Amino acid sequence: MSSGALAVELIDITKRFPGVIANDRVNLSVEDGEIHAICGENGAGKSTLMKILYGMQPPDEGRMTVRGEEVVLKSPKDAIELGIGMVHQHFMLADNFTVLENIILGAEPAKRGLVDWRSARAEIEALVETYGLDVRPDDLVEDLEVGERQRVEILKVLYRGARILILDEPTAVLVPQEIEELFRNLRDLKESGHTIIFIDHKLDEVLEISDTVTVIRQGRTVTTVDPADVTAHDLAELMVGSELPVPETRESTVTDVVVLELSGLSTSDNEREIVHDVDLRVRSGEIVGIAGVEGNGQHELIETLLGMRPASSGSITLDGRDITGTTVRQRRELGIDYIPADRHRYGLMLDAPLWENAMLGHQSEAPFVKGIWIDRKAARATAAEIIEEFDVRTPGVDTPAHALSGGNQQKFIIGREMVTDPSLLVAAHPTRGIDVGAQAAVWEQLRAARAAGLAVLLISADLDELIGLSDVLHVMLRGELVAELDPAAVTPRDLGSYMTGAAVGATE
Ligand SMILES: Nc1ncnc2c1ncn2[C@@H]1O[C@H](COP(=O)(O)OP(=O)(O)OP(=O)(O)O)[C@@H](O)[C@H]1O
Ligand SMILES: [Mg+2]
Repeated sequence: MSSGALAVELIDITKRFPGVIANDRVNLSVEDGEIHAICGENGAGKSTLMKILYGMQPPDEGRMTVRGEEVVLKSPKDAIELGIGMVHQHFMLADNFTVLENIILGAEPAKRGLVDWRSARAEIEALVETYGLDVRPDDLVEDLEVGERQRVEILKVLYRGARILILDEPTAVLVPQEIEELFRNLRDLKESGHTIIFIDHKLDEVLEISDTVTVIRQGRTVTTVDPADVTAHDLAELMVGSELPVPETRESTVTDVVVLELSGLSTSDNEREIVHDVDLRVRSGEIVGIAGVEGNGQHELIETLLGMRPASSGSITLDGRDITGTTVRQRRELGIDYIPADRHRYGLMLDAPLWENAMLGHQSEAPFVKGIWIDRKAARATAAEIIEEFDVRTPGVDTPAHALSGGNQQKFIIGREMVTDPSLLVAAHPTRGIDVGAQAAVWEQLRAARAAGLAVLLISADLDELIGLSDVLHVMLRGELVAELDPAAVTPRDLGSYMTGAAVGATE
């Protein structure tokens, strides 16, 4: 419980990168035993500040104290010794190791020079028990769902003795049920005296879980507030420093030109059918949403549609042409663009400049090819256009992708997939990890593209997004489309019941 004493204090922290001041005399005071949220736009400097607190980056200026003592951290090792642990925006687990191995990796207890597996296992089992962090030590990490991976990351930090936990956007990758579980875990940790600092873009979640909220804008601390005194709308305005854009009222732009048609589409994994007999149409000017709890075949449906996995039966037709047997590249060239869910893994070449990233996936298409040569000028112009239209905060097209904040990376990928004028856009979780202002902008872009005749297949875990954007909604459960709903008539709660199978039936 909070005792009023300070766990951490960051005083006038400044951090500069080439062309950018990421932190500009930021101040942050976190009380012992509280859950403290950090909010701010994409690129506001939140992750940078947390990396400084975790010893990953030295500040250029400023001081910090931990439990009242002034400290200088040279590396995360120093932070860990002070009882500070961090779970990153992008998980850092080794896929082909077990949960147990991942947790102790780098902190192996030794008994006469050998790893003492028995005591490590006992200690981890005790942590799992105490905090209800449900994982099985012998599972391979590559087989885990995101929620489980995150619990492994948290255990890893606790195993190293952390009393102060930093979580960078822990909920961005989770579905609603997993978020509830995470929040239970965080409350248990708080009960046992841990201090938690976390970054989150979903302001209603921030208000639900935190004791204190600090808002950061353009590298500076705007204010620290008690969540009981503010609304999500207040927080959003503090973040952006002005009134929020009001989403346009929508009118239907749906035409009767069928762009995509799936009939009887199925796909299997090791003989087991994971997508079963899917019939679906997306027309020009239409956004078709697919709701579902993660792991019900949505991912495999997209992979089949894009040509990354073979259909075991059924057909895919694009603009009247059967494309069932074509390759990923051919489908892209025929006009299917894709905003991937795991953007960190698939979306960017992190060391390459943005202008090269602007071509990724489109290297073989106009305007990037001139004869057999890559047209750099066109690529640079496209990158500049994406930066401009999608409000990507960065010094310019020569900046390497890794120098962008997490949310700005997302915006860049979304922009890249939309500027090439596809006929079908497959968008998986298009606003995951981006701030409320940018989210509104992406929605506007999607609506504008739809009005211009784009067909969109939208997969999202954000039920408000699905309901707000879609012209028609399908629910996917255990590999099948089980209901077709009118987004104008459905509530997030109803949708949740269809997703878990509590409500059944189609309204076609
Ligand atoms: N290693 C780096 N090199 C260059 N610039 C960087 C680097 N890391 C961060 N920046 C820049 O510093 C600024 C703050 O980035 P930071 O990652 O802290 O933002 P954030 O608040 O975490 O945003 P998001 O919500 O998008 O994750 C951004 O303009 C970013 O481009
Ligand atoms: Mg960040």
